[in-house]
Amino acid sequence: MGTVPNCGTDETRSAIDAAYNAWAKWRSLSAKERSRFLKNWHALIEENKEDLAKIITLEMGKPLAEAISEISYANNFLEWFAEEGKRIYGDIIPSNKLGQHLVVIKQSIGVAAAITPWNFPSAMITRKCAPALAAGCPVVIKPSSETPFSALALMELAHQAGFPKGVVNIVTGDSSVIGKELTTNNLVRKLSFTGSTAIGKLLMQQCGSTVKKLSLELGGNAPFIVFEDADIDKAVSAAIAAKFRNTGQTCICANRIFIQNNIFDEFATKFTKAVNKLRVGNGLTSDVHQGPLINQAGFDKVKSLVDDAVSKSAKIMCCGHPHELGSLFFEPTILTEITEDMRLVKEEIFGPVASLFRFDTEEEVVKHANNTNYGLAAYFFTRDSNRIWRVAENLEFGIIGSNEGIVSTEVAPFGGFKESGIGREGSKYGIDEFLEIKYLCMGSARSF
Ligand code: SIN
Repeated sequence: MGTVPNCGTDETRSAIDAAYNAWAKWRSLSAKERSRFLKNWHALIEENKEDLAKIITLEMGKPLAEAISEISYANNFLEWFAEEGKRIYGDIIPSNKLGQHLVVIKQSIGVAAAITPWNFPSAMITRKCAPALAAGCPVVIKPSSETPFSALALMELAHQAGFPKGVVNIVTGDSSVIGKELTTNNLVRKLSFTGSTAIGKLLMQQCGSTVKKLSLELGGNAPFIVFEDADIDKAVSAAIAAKFRNTGQTCICANRIFIQNNIFDEFATKFTKAVNKLRVGNGLTSDVHQGPLINQAGFDKVKSLVDDAVSKSAKIMCCGHPHELGSLFFEPTILTEITEDMRLVKEEIFGPVASLFRFDTEEEVVKHANNTNYGLAAYFFTRDSNRIWRVAENLEFGIIGSNEGIVSTEVAPFGGFKESGIGREGSKYGIDEFLEIKYLCMGSARSF
């Protein structure tokens, strides 16, 4: 598509300095004044929705309809936090001493760095920047090297929205060089990262030297459980959405689909029929449901997970091969007869491969579902209201879809347990990640 600047340590440092210099003025504006900039940005994104979506599809292959939904999703974070910034409340704590007042206020933490992924090249930028900016933090963004143009287009619109100089900054280039500076520079007080658990752990170590506040939205291994009393048609269409959205390349995609034994055949037949209807192709053409994988490494990983499972006696129910379109396209695939020794049981597939497991009891399936180092999203389908609460409480995941396959929204907290991350994005909780708590112990000016 083109070229972008290959920024290094010096440019990253300049961006951080610019952000730091802008902080005092930005944080001194009222929340209402800051919200005006966010609203301007929101309006410009809305006006340029089609172009922004087209850039996403060209850059990373997601079908245009999905790219348009991503821009709406991205823009919802700006709208939400433009308002939420006005509700950064403190507390008054009753003192246990005469003449004292104990007050808690919340203040912007300082320069916030955002390292964002390629799978949602626009939404992950606004999900981090909107709360940061609303809270009074200037931002320095490092977008994925796979998708810099979506990020740069958003930055152009931020520029047009009139943000003061230094408040919104971007550096494109080598991730490890830029990441090193963002994580070790003392002026950066907050890092928000979305990406793999392996890179998250590395960034966490690097941030240790300057004790930064961290939000990490990392990998997942989502279980998708269908109980015998579920509405099977509903579960099938939710499984299609939860598995094949973005060609299976989301952290909350269903990675392990557990079906209760006595409905396994019915579910598998209906699911296979639905998967066979998915059309693979160029995302810019209409009626395409699935684009290519992001790059050769992504494609190779998906292929090697399928090859590994098949070599250990998994059965292919549907497709299972590189697509005839060639290059990075892979057929939407269903595998059954999965055993614990197969890599896809433990690893995040990040591709269009659904693995179906059988189970007998609720206790057994919850135990299997929780048997992972990840804890981002989990889904289950049942009509039993007692079971809904029980299973929702027993699953060790940060996001639960109960009779729902699409759970992401700006109004609810997004984040995981265990090695899926730290902190929450979106919702009323998302802004706390960019705030410090200050306690004022206010004694009496005179003695009693
Ligand atoms: C992700 O995959 O990191 C984000 C998915 C979402 O927001 O729905």
